[in-house]
Amino acid sequence: MTIDGRKEVTAKNLEGPNTCRPWSEVAGQRIQTQGLAALIFVLLFFNTVCLFLYHGQLSKLDGGSNIVRGNRYELNPSVVSDKKDEISSESTSTKNVVLEYFKEARVILRDGDLQNLPTWSQIESIIGKRPVILGLDRCEIYRSKVPPLRRMLGASGMFNSGTNLVTRLLKENCVIPERFDYYGPGSSKEKYGIRWQVPWGKHTAAKLKYNYSAPLSENITKDDALPIVTVRNPYDWMRSMCQHSYTAEWSKNEKGPRKKQICPHLVYTNSTSEEKWPVEVTVKLANQYLTFTSLAHLWNEWYAQYEQDADYPYIIVRFEDLVFRQYATTQLICSCAGGETKDKDNFKFIVNSAKQGPGHGKKDERTDMIHAWIKYGKPKDVKSGYSDQDWEASLEYLSHDLMKKLGYRYPPSK
Ligand SMILES: *[C@@H]1O[C@H](CO)[C@@H](O)[C@H](O)[C@H]1NC(C)=O
Ligand SMILES: *[C@@H]1O[C@H](CO)[C@@H](O)[C@H](O)[C@H]1NC(C)=O
Ligand SMILES: *[C@@H]1O[C@H](CO)[C@@H](O)[C@H](O)[C@H]1NC(C)=O
Repeated sequence: MTIDGRKEVTAKNLEGPNTCRPWSEVAGQRIQTQGLAALIFVLLFFNTVCLFLYHGQLSKLDGGSNIVRGNRYELNPSVVSDKKDEISSESTSTKNVVLEYFKEARVILRDGDLQNLPTWSQIESIIGKRPVILGLDRCEIYRSKVPPLRRMLGASGMFNSGTNLVTRLLKENCVIPERFDYYGPGSSKEKYGIRWQVPWGKHTAAKLKYNYSAPLSENITKDDALPIVTVRNPYDWMRSMCQHSYTAEWSKNEKGPRKKQICPHLVYTNSTSEEKWPVEVTVKLANQYLTFTSLAHLWNEWYAQYEQDADYPYIIVRFEDLVFRQYATTQLICSCAGGETKDKDNFKFIVNSAKQGPGHGKKDERTDMIHAWIKYGKPKDVKSGYSDQDWEASLEYLSHDLMKKLGYRYPPSK
């Protein structure tokens, strides 16, 4: 049932063919003393037994094969079971899951907090029952290509997608053990294999990976870095881009008497269901101005440059899992590079992931965590609060394939 049960199955599976092979060899040695017919009989018999056992084990393994195969990683229940404190089980009331999570994060709730917080089932209805991480099928390739002392994890992602959050989670909780042993305690997180961004710059479009180096990263071998690519539900992401657009620029006004700003403004208001007039976005990334058909296309194409085009290992992780499943998600990312994560008792939850620049004084963790949970865990507004035209355009423009692979649901239309 538990992760240990799984290990047993895996171990037996590995034993299967090994214990069979010596049998065939033993059988082979009987050639000298027995007739050919007897030999064939014995070989056939053991082959059949071997095949039978082997297939039996294979199909058992297949039952939980999500961990070994496929581009999309979903924890299946038996793997999740040791993380049931973070993920609800039927016997645990959904309030207890939330309480337990805050307890683990060592954030003390006050009277009345629980009423304001979303329940775990509300959260699951938005982010799904399992973390979704793409690219875990390439971890082995990464580990075999890059020796431990050269390994490093670095954040990459569009603006407002959680790059700071993943960096902080990893810096606080993950090390490459060989690097730790080599550099000794008290050294920098970078020496232990955790960088705050990929050497090509965290917002740089992946197709410019080999054309551009972030300052002070010129001498790093780019393929030594495993990009940890953060992605966020595009509906929240676009709203967030309306608030802080960084180097992205697009028109939020229309000509004529109507002066009210429209955001995200995917299409001009002269658009119809048949004919849409998208609002073009330009964004400066790695000293280059790139143009996208609309803000939705920027989301599609920026991530497709990893998800579709990259032939090197990468991990795509959802902002939502980094907020609500910090321990399980960090562990999966860290171990992809052969790293070790702090155990749960010592795990440092990141409650305040906001950049602490001027005007962003440090607030108390309780309020920050509650705010984040309310902000990201409550049911979505109808049509995400977009205009009807933007909503319709979003349904058409956003990559259905990427939405599906990431397990993102569309906000309700009524
Ligand atoms: C990136 O570099 C490659 C050669 O390494 C070149 O062919 C390509 O045009 C460059 N792309 C950009 C956008 O500069
Ligand atoms: C990169 O290597 C060059 C040549 O060895 C050196 O001059 C430069 O300072 C190095 N840059 C960094 C950021 O370490
Ligand atoms: C719709 O509006 C856009 C932007 O103002 C303009 O470029 C386009 O020509 C308009 N199309 C029609 C059919 O009016």
